[in-house]
Amino acid sequence: MFRTHNCGELRLEDAGKEIKLSGWVQKVRDKGGMIWVDLRDRYGITQLIFEEGKTDSSILERAKKLGREFVVQTSGKVVERIAKNDNIPTGHIEIAVSDLKVLNSAKVPPFIIEDETDGGDDLRMKYRYLDLRRNAVRQNLVMRHEINRLTREYLNRQGFIEVETPVLIKSTPEGARDFVVPSRMNPGEFYALPQSPQTFKQLLMVSGFDRYYQIVKCFRDEDLRADRQPEFTQIDCEMSFVDRGSVLETFEGLTKFLFKEALNLEFEQFPVMPYSEAMRKYGSDKPDLRFDMRIQELTKVAQGRGFNVFDQAESVLSIVVPEAADYSRKQIDELTEWVKRPQIRAKGMVYVKYLTDGSFKSSVDKFYQQEDLQAWADTCGANSGDLILVLSGPEDKTLKAIGELRLEMGRRLDLLDPKVFKPLWVVDFPLLEWDQETQRYHAMHHPFTSPSDTDLNLLEQDPAAVRANAYDLVINGVEIGGGSIRIHDRDLQQTMFSLLGFSEAEAKAQFGFLMQAFEYGAPPHGGIAFGFDRLCALMGGSDSIRDFIAFPKNNAGRDVMIDSPSSISAEQLEELGIGLKD
Ligand code: AMO
Repeated sequence: MFRTHNCGELRLEDAGKEIKLSGWVQKVRDKGGMIWVDLRDRYGITQLIFEEGKTDSSILERAKKLGREFVVQTSGKVVERIAKNDNIPTGHIEIAVSDLKVLNSAKVPPFIIEDETDGGDDLRMKYRYLDLRRNAVRQNLVMRHEINRLTREYLNRQGFIEVETPVLIKSTPEGARDFVVPSRMNPGEFYALPQSPQTFKQLLMVSGFDRYYQIVKCFRDEDLRADRQPEFTQIDCEMSFVDRGSVLETFEGLTKFLFKEALNLEFEQFPVMPYSEAMRKYGSDKPDLRFDMRIQELTKVAQGRGFNVFDQAESVLSIVVPEAADYSRKQIDELTEWVKRPQIRAKGMVYVKYLTDGSFKSSVDKFYQQEDLQAWADTCGANSGDLILVLSGPEDKTLKAIGELRLEMGRRLDLLDPKVFKPLWVVDFPLLEWDQETQRYHAMHHPFTSPSDTDLNLLEQDPAAVRANAYDLVINGVEIGGGSIRIHDRDLQQTMFSLLGFSEAEAKAQFGFLMQAFEYGAPPHGGIAFGFDRLCALMGGSDSIRDFIAFPKNNAGRDVMIDSPSSISAEQLEELGIGLKD
């Protein structure tokens, strides 16, 4: 037997027991006549003690030769510690060792395996299996397991059935590029890895499964960020005979259940906000509601005073930063540089300081009198002591830019508490968005999303004005999930494909199977998918989903541990029918 207990469970009540433990050597302190060893496993740390005169000398010698991360097995007696450590649950006891066996030695690890490590990102990724020994990373994966288990518990209880769908499929249009896999048996032909199981879950509804879920890997070849990985996991769901209300209720229920069970947090009913309102007030379709600082329009009051930049702008928009009128020249300059960065692309920024003596100081004093600036302050609800920041330009771009500035001010003023959660549903997205580059419409969600009933009549004359019956779950500015009520009518689906620029033949070649299925009794249906990695990271208080994935890829899409992607041999290429020809 390797162990009678684990390294996290022995307490003072166990004093006197003869036990066996196995684990990794975290630390050795050799004080001459006494040696202490911290023994670690998944469950915790237990202190071992070796004492000259009490411990057999051969065992003492063996203890002296232990190094960090050696794997050992030990027997001994649980004894009360003289110097107690209240910081760990096993801190009141130690093991007076009677036997010690080295099960495996270890090289000196390339970084310290403790909460505060000296290993940089790259090094820890290369030795991820060592990084995973650290408390913080391990606890994240334990939390992920727990959220996974709770999700299954909730959905099973609600009558959902988990069905696996294939991984070698044909392209699904979720908006990113596909990863493709060559087919040896069909030279020159390729499978695509699913960007999501979208079409399959809809087919399962046609088959009558009624309530489907799958916790499933999805693959997207897109630029990576802290909240994006090329392979990630969705909680993917679909339901039949439902309207938007029932889908939202079911998945608001799931979200509340997870937060209650995992974090003991409760929520009121989630607010529902139309996309247009989210854009107008927060400059984003995923507003962070942890702080207010809404966007205020100044176009009317700011135009007509000879300031060309504003006079020519479609929109003049502001945010009020509370109690920041004392911002220094340097701080303002820094913010101006910040909004000019290529990611934000504002041409410049105007500021107005509403000073505590009631007067105004602005970067546009040449053009505006004190009364003018008072009118601005009244319009945007500023109080004395506040700082008004103003951006102008085309409406869409300016809304987005000032939305980003709002978030940056939230960050700078420390308003983004990771322990506070503000969920909401964003609804009524536009069905289509115009793509300048390709000069055609793209589906904002995906081509299977139903237009909202009230806008159906606009589909032919004014497609850009049509709203989708789609919804996103947003928490703290993160898009946790997205879904929609689907088209279940063959003709409407055909119209949608033609709006998206597919010829009838192209639509048939790519989605003929779905259109055909719709001819055999497709029920009204709808669904949603949560980004599981994002949900775990959010609940765990991290900005990066990598912290919640056992073996993530870096920002270049590489796994530096296994060194992938990598080239393959000419023979392999040949066999796959994609051999390099000279
Ligand atoms: P969507 O494309 O919105 O919808 O994806 C659903 C959720 O998946 C998460 N997500 C990602 N997480 C990590 N890395 C990525 N690269 C990544 N891409 C997306 C997000 C997102 O909200 N088939 C539809 C769902 C439906 O209509 O039912 C779909 O995939 O949290």
